[in-house]
Amino acid sequence: MTSPAIGIHDLAVATTSRVVDLDDLAARTGVDPAKFHVGLGQDQMSIPGPDEDIVTMGAAAAQRIIERHGVEGIRTLFFATETGIDQSRAAGVHVHELLGLPRTVRVVELKQACYSATAALQSAAGLIARNPDERVLVIASDVARYEVDTAAEPTQGAGAVAFLVTADPALAVLETAAGVHTAEVDDFWRPNDSMTAVVDGKLSISAYLDGIAGAWDDYASRGGAPIAEIDYFCHHQPFTKMAVKAHRALGQHVGVELDPELVLATTGYNRRIGNSYTASLYIALAALLEGDRDLAGARIGMFSYGSGSVSEFFSLVVQDGYRAVTRAAETEALLAGRDRVDIDAYRALHALGSRDSNVDVDIPGESAVPFHFAGISGRARRYTRS
Ligand code: HMG
Repeated sequence: MTSPAIGIHDLAVATTSRVVDLDDLAARTGVDPAKFHVGLGQDQMSIPGPDEDIVTMGAAAAQRIIERHGVEGIRTLFFATETGIDQSRAAGVHVHELLGLPRTVRVVELKQACYSATAALQSAAGLIARNPDERVLVIASDVARYEVDTAAEPTQGAGAVAFLVTADPALAVLETAAGVHTAEVDDFWRPNDSMTAVVDGKLSISAYLDGIAGAWDDYASRGGAPIAEIDYFCHHQPFTKMAVKAHRALGQHVGVELDPELVLATTGYNRRIGNSYTASLYIALAALLEGDRDLAGARIGMFSYGSGSVSEFFSLVVQDGYRAVTRAAETEALLAGRDRVDIDAYRALHALGSRDSNVDVDIPGESAVPFHFAGISGRARRYTRS
């Protein structure tokens, strides 16, 4: 039996209602703004309001997928995150309720730092290969939080994507070859008792670059496309300059000169959103697909990295007619519609991240987003629609 082509049928981005301009952070911290704009390749970072979190962003992205395609055939919802809101229940169960998805949908959360949305995509492809009539909803949603007044502070951010994985996809086909690389390394992690990540910045960069070399070698050994046949490269973007570094390092590893334009075409949204961990790679993909270039038939090399560390290199081929399902105007409206908050307001929101689940609280739905975190009662988180 020949397997059907499987891949991404539709993709929607979401982020928070608020944004910090890194010029404001540079002015407050006495850093040359060029370090952020040029050195890190970042201009802004999305910040959640008191009534926003990974569930509200994930539901907002998934709602737009469901509005367009309905729920028929969806039997699995994978929620990828590394900023989980509970040690037991999957955040996706809240999304399932908010969107009124059928009871006949299994929901599970996947974790391995920024990598797990890729595990969700590959797992979805496996389910669909077994039953091509099924469709899998994947949500990746994260809030990147580091301690304030650290070198990592300008590399925060928040965002989500939802994508539908199907047979005969309208956007891009997932090719079979994939290369993986796992190595235990203490570059970045978040202990259970901490709301902020622990990070060794320099080690994290070298571990990422080791990951791309290892994943590429495995991809090549498993029949992946030759590098000359890859038209664009989407690399995980903790800050967009990292994707440029990765691109250069991949070229050196393989022994070819790679044009930086092939990766710069993917960085437009993440420069303005910041790190969104699991969502970041797929927001980069959205930026490429929603840009001006005609990508029909193009092969995109995708590098997924999750600290700790797991890496994967795989490839997508863009479908003819893909533009009929891209969402450039929607994404631009979300980014342009965020409220710019000053550094005092942002740091007050940052401090809220450590809410105590022992204290009941009602949170008014004040942010201009479709779903809200409404507070805590009986130690459980509550959510509402606008
Ligand atoms: P830092 O101390 O600001 O680094 O930390 P720096 O002093 O080396 O400066 C950064 C760059 O700015 C350098 O460029 C400087 O030269 C340049 P590079 O040499 O690297 O090309 N620079 C300037 N450029 C123009 N004008 C200036 C200027 N001054 C300096 N005036 C670091 C940077 C990224 C380490 C820090 O922000 C950090 O720790 N961030 C968090 C960790 C991180 O993002 N790591 C990335 C790889 S790990 C990963 O991707 C996984 C992750 O997403 C999590 C997960 O998987 O779960 C993080």
